[in-house]
Amino acid sequence: MVDVVPVPDPALVVLVGASGSGKSTWASSRYRTAEIVSSDALRGVVGSGEHDLDASADAFALLEQVVAARLGRRLTVVVDTVGTDPARRRRWLAAAHEAGLPAVAVVLDTPAGVCRSRNAARDRPVPARVLDRQLATVAATVGLLDDEGWDSVLVATPDVPTHPGNTPSTGRPTTVAAGTTSRSSGALPEQGAGLRGVVLQLSRFPADVDLLTWLRDVAAATEEAGLAGIALMDHLIQIPQVGRAWDPIPEPWVTLGALAASTTRLHLGTLVTPVTFRAPGITAKAAATLSALTGGRAFVGVGAGWWEREHTAYGLGFPSARERLDALERGIETMKALWAPGTKTYAGRLVSLPETTCYPRPVGELPVVVGGGGDRTLRVAARLGDGCNVLSDDAGLAKVARYLDLVDEAGRDRATVHATVLDLPLLGRDRDDVWSRVERHRGRVAAATFAARHHAGTPGEHADRLAGLAERGVTTAFVAPVGLDGPDDVLALAPLATAFG
Ligand code: CTP
Ligand code: MG
Repeated sequence: MVDVVPVPDPALVVLVGASGSGKSTWASSRYRTAEIVSSDALRGVVGSGEHDLDASADAFALLEQVVAARLGRRLTVVVDTVGTDPARRRRWLAAAHEAGLPAVAVVLDTPAGVCRSRNAARDRPVPARVLDRQLATVAATVGLLDDEGWDSVLVATPDVPTHPGNTPSTGRPTTVAAGTTSRSSGALPEQGAGLRGVVLQLSRFPADVDLLTWLRDVAAATEEAGLAGIALMDHLIQIPQVGRAWDPIPEPWVTLGALAASTTRLHLGTLVTPVTFRAPGITAKAAATLSALTGGRAFVGVGAGWWEREHTAYGLGFPSARERLDALERGIETMKALWAPGTKTYAGRLVSLPETTCYPRPVGELPVVVGGGGDRTLRVAARLGDGCNVLSDDAGLAKVARYLDLVDEAGRDRATVHATVLDLPLLGRDRDDVWSRVERHRGRVAAATFAARHHAGTPGEHADRLAGLAERGVTTAFVAPVGLDGPDDVLALAPLATAFG
């Protein structure tokens, strides 16, 4: 991939450049038409054409309204004017910051001679005198930008491509100098396990096709895309975050058995099994069997359970959060005891068993990944489990850091644990496709909020973002793409597969 200067997204992007410098070309090759507001285009809307200077006042009044409206919705707006009016720039920048969006100035640093010859070749060239004045004003403006409070000032030259990318959801993006990249290649120490990488989390299943065939096709696509494995949700009723209550949600351990017969490479497990569903010894038995069936490619995600409805509906108890966390602790201890070598008596901190006879034995490592970001959960994960699982947002990444500290405190080697995140990306082929998918899936959530929550972007942008997670200590991303329907959507994840190296 070529080195590119990332432009934060969403953002206010104000172009600065003389006629013929390539502003409109730069904008339309990176942004959707609806994201660009151009004084020339608006002259054509309210006047006789793009060059109808008599229509300037009306065109700029509309332009100001579009800028304010889009910023108010936290939607990207690219302002395509010469960009040399300091009062307008100040107003746009203030509006962006008021909306909590970063403001970026992009200077089209095209040599004067190139602007002049492009201008001369046009149907309606700008008079040479006017262009000379523009070139001088643009040159003077460049010197002012650094002191105006822009979050970054980028210089677009033919050698330094720039592109919109995801901005951190909190705080302002750091200023990036043109010619640098945002992505460093600092390598982490090798982690212990094969679970490392990008694992597909399946949460939606089809109702109208043969389930086994669909699962085999998805497993084949997951392998072809180069992903590290498949994780299944463990719910008795489809959860409202994913679908309707009558959408199918197959029992995961049975389903993992079917998947085990469909792949010789993928890691397979749950994300996550609530300890409230099954006695932990039964989960230990199922997981050890899966480990044996896959030659050591099984993992167990466990959690305290959270959805009361499915418990009540299936005749299960749903004790208090504290009791469920107690059960989580006992559950992990029980599973580990049953998987330990031999059949000896176990007398642990919370659990005692007269014997620990569990055959077939797990093959190699059978990691227990503890889901949930509460501090007690993280402590349990660090002390008893082999990994944590939190959301991939900024709050989740802070929890990853906390978890790794707790691993140190527990006297364990952080290179041997799995710091995992659940990531719910929205992927589209290009920017147009991304935003039409945002519209399709956002329901009543504001588009900008939905796009941010799901890091809406192209596969390449997601790959860069996941590589950034790896730099912050994340070893595995469980990825559950928005609207994943089947094998084709899985294949689209291929560019993400190598994000963790
Ligand atoms: N162009 C080019 N190569 C680029 C950028 C632009 O050949 N890298 C050409 C475009 O095809 C167009 C001309 O240069 O014919 C001017 O580019 P444009 O993007 O329209 O420039 P603007 O800065 O938008 O000019 P104006 O202010 O007049 O709208
Ligand atoms: Mg233009």
